[in-house]
Amino acid sequence: MSRRKQRIGAAFSAAAGTYDTAALAQIHAADLLAGRLPGPPLEGRILELGCGTGLFTRRLLERLDAQARLLATDLSPRMVERARAGLGDPRLGFVVLDAEAPEPAGGPFDLIASSLAAQWFADLPATLARLAAMLRPGGTLLIATLGAGTFAEWRAAHAALGLRSGVADYPDAGRLAAMLAGATVESERFAITHADARAFLRSLDAVGAGTPRPGHRPLPAGTLRRIMASLGRPCSITWEVLILSMTKKGNGR
Ligand SMILES: C[S@@+](CC[C@H](N)C(=O)[O-])C[C@H]1O[C@@H](n2cnc3c(N)ncnc32)[C@H](O)[C@@H]1O
Repeated sequence: MSRRKQRIGAAFSAAAGTYDTAALAQIHAADLLAGRLPGPPLEGRILELGCGTGLFTRRLLERLDAQARLLATDLSPRMVERARAGLGDPRLGFVVLDAEAPEPAGGPFDLIASSLAAQWFADLPATLARLAAMLRPGGTLLIATLGAGTFAEWRAAHAALGLRSGVADYPDAGRLAAMLAGATVESERFAITHADARAFLRSLDAVGAGTPRPGHRPLPAGTLRRIMASLGRPCSITWEVLILSMTKKGNGR
């Protein structure tokens, strides 16, 4: 596993205990994604990638058929422990798994779903193709990830000083749709208001999302303070959630 991926997993493991206190945007995204689920009920074999503490897992469980099976997975062992502790159900299993190297037993799957984990993947097009191959004919891939509009205010505050922020370059809806044949992508934007920019950054650390894009060098403290001050109090931060949906041709059921 790459050093970066180990770092991402370690940051999420360290945040497993605080995640639920700060996951406002993640709750909103999980609700948006749940609104796009097939059914209810959800039938057959279901794989969830990047389950975290189980926010979206819970929404899957609520819709799960009595005979269905849900395998919830995450890169971070601490996140998996946390989700397992909070969600007991005989139809639900857990595995520590890198979604970019997926060979979980139990496929092919009727549904592969993931809420706000794919923005951490190193090679999203290759991973989407691999996941699509793990679907049963007629099965659905449903992925919520972050879009280019995410943290627009934070990026703009850096750009005003001729700097680039540590936030990754997320795709826009068109670029994401082009990554997988047959995929459609919807975009939803919403804002979260924080007391100030420091509170925004703290909320990212509390959910384990503080790892910067590859190659980012931390800014001098004074520059960072100027950027934070320019965002004002309170400070409103935009999130853009992209929901990719693809149903594999054929009818396997
Ligand atoms: C922002 S959290 C979202 C968690 C959950 N889905 C939710 O809706 O609250 C992102 C999760 O993705 C996981 N993750 C990051 N990269 C991953 C990878 N390559 N494979 C599996 N999980 C990954 C992290 O460990 C973390 O738990």
